[in-house]
Amino acid sequence: MAASGLLLGGFMLVHLAENLLLFKGEAAYNGWVDLLLSNPATPLLEIGLLFVFVAHIITGVWVRVEDFLNAPRGYEARKWQGGRTVGSATMLYTAAAILAYLVYHMLTFRFVDHSMGFYQMVTSAFRSPVFTAIYIAGSAALALHLSHGMQSAFQTLGLNHPKYTPLIKAGGLLVALAMTGFALISLYYLAGLDLKAAEAGAQMVVIN
Ligand code: HEM
Repeated sequence: MAASGLLLGGFMLVHLAENLLLFKGEAAYNGWVDLLLSNPATPLLEIGLLFVFVAHIITGVWVRVEDFLNAPRGYEARKWQGGRTVGSATMLYTAAAILAYLVYHMLTFRFVDHSMGFYQMVTSAFRSPVFTAIYIAGSAALALHLSHGMQSAFQTLGLNHPKYTPLIKAGGLLVALAMTGFALISLYYLAGLDLKAAEAGAQMVVIN
């Protein structure tokens, strides 16, 4: 579970970086997606990613079932003792929210007609407040999940050290915080800031 969690965390950082290319404009974003889709290794990576997701879900459910079977009475009542955080106490709920979000994400961006171009598809979707609200909720669930998940994964793998553990914890929190970037991207397009930037650019050209 820890290894698949870290791999998924890594994928999320790469995916965020890819989507930050939206700010570089249509040519840069579509160019990157085209490059990705024309790479013969991409379908294999997608299958690998699906495998990691499924492994993470199955091991997650298994850990919960084991916890439930082995927990002494009153376990629920003591959930918040011993350094529990909001992130750790809500792992199951945030996991369910991320899964629901992911299904929505696949149905709206992955398994659809891409003929209008990826940049147009993404930016026009974010003009909708409902669409953006779903993305904000998804990003928040992801950030909360990773705020506990990243450091927990390192701990499970035995990477504990008096000197480096605080650094690992801080790094995990930073990765979690970065996930709010997905929400910021959608808010940028909802507010039409790309249109304002393009307008300002056009005015500069006219003045010059
Ligand atoms: C600003 C937010 C996001 C944008 C604009 C975005 C954009 C996209 C696009 C355009 C695709 C389709 C690529 C293709 O058809 O091959 C995609 C795929 C995918 N996205 Fe996102 N995404 C965002 C956030 C997220 C988040 C938060 C997650 C995870 C919870 C996620 C997980 C995935 C996965 C697993 C795939 C499938 C990977 C693949 O098939 O290549 N995305 N995303």
